[in-house]
Amino acid sequence: MIFGVVLAGGIGSRMGNVGKPKQYLLVGDKPILIHTLEKFYKEKEFEKVIVLCPKEWIAHTKNLVKKYMEDAERVVVLEGGETRNETIMNSISYIEENYGLAEDTIIVTHDSVRPFVTERILKENIKYAKEYGACDTAVAATDTIVCSDDNVMISDIPERRKMYQGQTPQSFQALKLKNLYDSLTEEEKNLLTDAAKIFVMKGEKVHIVDGEVFNIKITYPYDLRVAEAFLLESGQ
Ligand code: CTP
Repeated sequence: MIFGVVLAGGIGSRMGNVGKPKQYLLVGDKPILIHTLEKFYKEKEFEKVIVLCPKEWIAHTKNLVKKYMEDAERVVVLEGGETRNETIMNSISYIEENYGLAEDTIIVTHDSVRPFVTERILKENIKYAKEYGACDTAVAATDTIVCSDDNVMISDIPERRKMYQGQTPQSFQALKLKNLYDSLTEEEKNLLTDAAKIFVMKGEKVHIVDGEVFNIKITYPYDLRVAEAFLLESGQ
C-alpha cells in the first residue's frame, strides 16, 4: 500500500507574524495546503492522503478538506509531532494501527508548503521507493555551494557537479524508516532533521528523483510573492 503524507505540523516562524501557520495562507484564492493536497489527491495510487498539522489546527484543517475536496474520506487529518521527523512517525503509527506495516508499505512524504509538486515527481517517487526502498527529490545546484564550519570562514568548496539542492517529496518503505528511526539515540534524533539523511547515515541507498526549480518551499514572505507569480503564469 502507498500513502501520501503531507507534513503541515510546523508553525512557519520564518514567515514572520502573519497570524497563522504559513500553510494556511492564501496563494491565489486557496490556502497553500489545499494547492498541495489537490496534487496528492489526484494520485490514484495513494490509498489515503494523510495530513498532519498542529493540534489546534485540526478542526480548521478538517473544515478545509470538506470545503475543497470532493471525497473528504480519502483525506485523513492527524496531529503532527514536535519535530518534522516526529510528524512523519505519527503518520507511520496511524498506518500501522489501521492497516498494519508490510515490507511494501510506502509513504510519500511532502512539505505542505511546496504546492507546485508535479504528477511526474509523485509518480517517480512511488517508482523509486518501490525499487530502492528510499528516494529523495533534488535539483542540481546552480550556485556553487560554499561550506563553512564556523559560519565565518570558508572551510570547503565542493565540486558543483556533485551538489544538489534537496526538495521533497522524500519517499520510503515505512517499516524500514521506522526501524532506522527507532535505532537512533536521542542525540542522533536531534541532529537528523532530514528523514532521507537517516537512510544515508545508516548506509542505506537513497535514489535521486529529478525535482523542478519551481517546486519551491514557501519559507519567507518573498517566496509568497514568487508563488503568486508562478500560479498566475502557470494558470493553476
Ligand atoms: N513540519 C511538520 N512538523 C513539524 C515541523 C515542520 O510537519 N514539527 C512541516 C512544515 O509544516 C512544513 C515542512 O515541514 O510544511 C517544512 O518545514 P519548514 O519549512 O521548516 O516549516 P516550519 O517549521 O513551519 O517553518 P519555520 O522553520 O520557519 O518555523
